[in-house]
Amino acid sequence: MKFTTTPTLLGALVPLTAAFPSWVFEEAANDPQIAARADEILKRQEGAGAATALFEPVPIFDAEKQFVDVSEGSGHEYQAPGPDDIRGPCPGLNAFANHGFLPRNGYATITQYIEATTQVVGMGPNLALFLSTLGAAVDGSGTAWSMGGTPPASVGSGNGLSGSHNKYESDASPTRPDLYQDGNNYKTQADQFQELIDASPGGFVTMESLTSFRAQRFNTQKETNPYFFNGPFTGVLVQPAAYTFIYRFMANHSEEAPAGELSYDVIKSWFAIDGESGSYTANQGQERIPENWYKRAIAYPYETPYFLADVVNAAGLHPEFLDVGGNLGTTDSFTGVDINDLTGGIFNAGDLLQGNNLGCFAFQLSAQAKPDLLLGLLNPVTDLVGDLVSQLSCPKLRQADEDLLKQFPGYRQ
Ligand code: HEM
Ligand SMILES: *[C@@H]1O[C@H](CO)[C@@H](O)[C@H](O)[C@H]1NC(C)=O
Repeated sequence: MKFTTTPTLLGALVPLTAAFPSWVFEEAANDPQIAARADEILKRQEGAGAATALFEPVPIFDAEKQFVDVSEGSGHEYQAPGPDDIRGPCPGLNAFANHGFLPRNGYATITQYIEATTQVVGMGPNLALFLSTLGAAVDGSGTAWSMGGTPPASVGSGNGLSGSHNKYESDASPTRPDLYQDGNNYKTQADQFQELIDASPGGFVTMESLTSFRAQRFNTQKETNPYFFNGPFTGVLVQPAAYTFIYRFMANHSEEAPAGELSYDVIKSWFAIDGESGSYTANQGQERIPENWYKRAIAYPYETPYFLADVVNAAGLHPEFLDVGGNLGTTDSFTGVDINDLTGGIFNAGDLLQGNNLGCFAFQLSAQAKPDLLLGLLNPVTDLVGDLVSQLSCPKLRQADEDLLKQFPGYRQ
């Protein structure tokens, strides 16, 4: 199933573009040159990065507004984490804590996560609200959570992001290993980083290169991890975020490259990698925001519809990304579950790329697919999912048949 024509993409996203700042369209429409150019870009663009043309139609760059000052004396200079500071599987959050955009101890409130992600890298406020609230519900105290492992009782509660395998943390991550293959899910693997660079020739990491690297990782994990599991939420939405966030949030922006350009040096800083290609080494927990770095345009936050468009595009190129299921305890034994059975007939594998189905499916599964969730704590998430579900005009999922997932040892454990 290929998903390449622009009209289809547009068709799929029309209901979502309401979230888009309308002045951008007006400005574009009033300037025939810009309008013609945007139209042309839109027609030409296909593949993994296609959503850029739709969500960033007019090139915008404002050095003053987009500069993120982490220099000496800025109050946000880099400081390596101390022995009691918690770091985990997310390089973005680790870096924020290392620069004091989040508490340096690695335990923060929902509000602090929302402020940091929206202000430092331009995450859309609704996406930030959803991700942060889910963190607090599945990994934390309900209002705060650890970006790594279990915090000491004096600091907070919950098992943290690292302890959230299959609830939040997923398999086939870019630079982190699979939990049941390596015994940890948060340490940066220099060899995986090397593979990412090898998949991105020419000095720059792009949406296209990240998407092929993801396909490669997905395949390798099927072939080598007996417990590989691609969950309905973690596999379908968290795994792609782990790839698209690299380009959408870590790229440097400029007049010449308003949609962002991600050089090897910039990504090395964000992932705390030293050395040159062929001899990379990883420094755990020492992720840093590069000096002299410019975030995405303020008018173009990376909001839920934009993210979903990236997810849909990647799945159009690699339909296997949407295969919910896992290996059966041996390598190369991947078995899928029938989405129709899993969702009581509400969703179908064949329709997932149409309209808002993919977002509807995965967001609703985020709150349902795990039995040990405390429903009381999940209420805020259920509310948020409810909001999203009505924004996206989703068919309502009543219940997920969790028994179907229990055949997978990577889910059961
Ligand atoms: C509140 C907001 C956020 C939450 C809850 C969150 C959570 C997570 C989680 C649970 C993972 C592990 C996923 C996996 O197992 O593959 C992860 C990975 C990742 N996150 Fe975040 N994150 C957030 C914000 C960000 C931001 C702002 C960035 C970029 C600046 C970012 C970049 C990444 C990347 C690149 C990975 C993949 C790491 C790798 O395996 O190489 N995240 N995040
Ligand atoms: C970002 O791009 C600008 C303009 O090209 C450049 O001056 C700056 O050094 C770049 N920043 C990084 C971290 O590469």
